[in-house]
Amino acid sequence: MKKVRKAVIPVAGFGTRFLPATKSTPKEMMPLIDKPIIHYIVEEAVNSGIETIIFVTGRHKRAIEDYFDYYPELEQVLNKSGKEKEIEMLRQISNMAEFVFIRQKQQLGLGHAVLTAANLVGNEPFAVLLGDEIIKNDEKPGIKQLIDIYYQFGKSVIGTMEVPKEDVSKYGIVAGKEVINGIKIIESLIEKPSVEEAPSTTAIIGRYVLTPNVFDALRETPIGRGGEIQLTDGLSKLREKEVIYAKDIEGIRHDTGNKLGYIEAIIDFALDRQDLKDEVFKMIKEKYKEMEKDSVEQN
Ligand code: G1P
Repeated sequence: MKKVRKAVIPVAGFGTRFLPATKSTPKEMMPLIDKPIIHYIVEEAVNSGIETIIFVTGRHKRAIEDYFDYYPELEQVLNKSGKEKEIEMLRQISNMAEFVFIRQKQQLGLGHAVLTAANLVGNEPFAVLLGDEIIKNDEKPGIKQLIDIYYQFGKSVIGTMEVPKEDVSKYGIVAGKEVINGIKIIESLIEKPSVEEAPSTTAIIGRYVLTPNVFDALRETPIGRGGEIQLTDGLSKLREKEVIYAKDIEGIRHDTGNKLGYIEAIIDFALDRQDLKDEVFKMIKEKYKEMEKDSVEQN
């Protein structure tokens, strides 16, 4: 069976939910403490055995290319002040993988973004990671969990999680039959259904391992929800031809694509860091006490 060596990360979106911050900074570059969100996503892929990262990028996303490149001018400055460790740390970012960039010239949807990478992926299985979600699992990275299932069955696998009924319209929803150890064979997929339409409450989260047959399926996929070519619709077409599996991903999932999720991720990561955790915890306790006092006074 072919190895899963490549990952496609679509990063062409505008990030309108974080305007004005994203007017001149890609949303993927927003920091979670001292690393941009995209760094965590790439780390997850690399820690899962991925060797090549294909960014499907767009206008105004140059900062992502620069982030994964060497920065000789900065290295010179750091060198002068003897900051060897920092130079090494910066170089390691560029050395994590081979980085490839391709422009999605028109924003025609997630399915179209994935299709843009078709020639770069070629005839082999590949991973897709969406940059809005961070999955924290130190033992087994999110996408690795799916890659292992791919190696078991040789077919596409979609990462899922259970969501409350009222949230189904925010996600692609799948329904299927469990075959073994929480792994399901998908029977239907629908992008952002209403509560009435949803066949289940199993939501697609932004992690996929796909066979290259998905490209032909995407080429045949008509424009769907929101006037876009949806990856979920492409997968629905692929399912007519070959089996697709789904599995709930284990780990803490942070939806950094919305403000509350982003704040939660920052707090969670800060409380994990030896150098920050005590001070941050103290800060939160003090803030909490202050807010309690204010609310007592107001009542
Ligand atoms: C995309 C997919 C959707 C999936 C979601 C996960 O939607 O189209 O199927 O459930 O990512 O985050 P988006 O959030 O980009 O609208």
